[in-house]
Amino acid sequence: MKRLLRTLSGQAVWPPPVWLMRQAGRYLPEYRAVRAGVKDFVALCTTPALAAEVTLQPIRRYGFDAAILFSDILMLPWALGHGLEFKEGEGPVLPKLRNAADVAALDPARVADRVAPIMETVRLVRAGLLAEGFGETALIGFAGAPFTVACYMVEGGGSKDFAAVRGMAYAQPALFQRLMDVLTLASIEYLSAQVVAGAEVLMLFDSWAGVLSPSLFRRHCVAPATQIVAALRQRHPNVPVIGFPRLAGVMTREYAATRVDGVGVDTGSDIGAVAAMLPSRMAVQGNLDPLAVVAGGTAMTAEVAGILSAMRGRPFIFNLGHGIVPQTPPEHVAALLELVRAG
Ligand code: CP3
Repeated sequence: MKRLLRTLSGQAVWPPPVWLMRQAGRYLPEYRAVRAGVKDFVALCTTPALAAEVTLQPIRRYGFDAAILFSDILMLPWALGHGLEFKEGEGPVLPKLRNAADVAALDPARVADRVAPIMETVRLVRAGLLAEGFGETALIGFAGAPFTVACYMVEGGGSKDFAAVRGMAYAQPALFQRLMDVLTLASIEYLSAQVVAGAEVLMLFDSWAGVLSPSLFRRHCVAPATQIVAALRQRHPNVPVIGFPRLAGVMTREYAATRVDGVGVDTGSDIGAVAAMLPSRMAVQGNLDPLAVVAGGTAMTAEVAGILSAMRGRPFIFNLGHGIVPQTPPEHVAALLELVRAG
């Protein structure tokens, strides 16, 4: 079994498997070269040959234990018929979802057709990994968790405090729950299709889970993730799921109720303390500060050593605490891999 899959089955594989969130991206010159040749980011995500190529680029350079499908969490709302644009230097821009008509306009029936190119990317990557001799590298499919996707749909993009979406969750609970239900069911179908196309592991990114109050965290982070994991496990019992309830702090303890196989930990959390809150066979993933990789040198070495010594002896996947940043020198990533693989 591949090292990542063994870890997610509850074994303490050492040295730990390693991959990095956003490992395909702007810090790599070969990514920028592909990106420069397409009209926009959505076009890159929906052109299978190019999306597969950029998925494989970091594997060729570093031999990571996992490849993550090149796409974006906002491709699901896009496929539901909600608009999506990536403006240069601004990040994603979406129409602001406001009322029952906006929720009713979402069309789950069109999703399968619109995500067909993404499934083709999954098939190409699986075949490419094998053809290029990366037989130990597992392919991760993913979706945004319903709450984080709802954040971007309601706010119309990123936000400092996500006041509009939190406001809607309190003031219009029935409307917000309807939106969450549409996203939860669509996510199950979307993730399941990725497995059928060749994904071996699934990850749910709940990047903004930490802005929720404890009661709303239970309702809009833990409950939908529990529903998604249960449905996927019924259809694909051997495909593990990693959940990433970012910034959840002590609420991460309750996230164990989702029965995910692995839990992502953000940079600001003490990874040993989070691991101690979770069942001992539940894998933990994280949590090097992406800025430590920008710095490199002794600062990075010390941070890596701290994480490895806290995680030795338990199922652990080395990763960052959030996505790699564009200014990261690619040679620092190579140095990071050497440190992790020295255990
Ligand atoms: O390499 C990988 O990790 C796989 C692909 C991937 C991307 N986004 C590519 C991407 C994955 C798994 C994501 C997840 C994602 N996207 C999240 C969850 C994780 C997190 O970072 O919190 C979120 C919140 C998004 C939404 C999103 N996509 C934003 C806010 C932005 C703009 C900010 C930025 O970094 O540019 C994106 C764009 C995006 N998604 C890029 C990439 C490589 C950069 C676009 C470009 O190349 O121009």
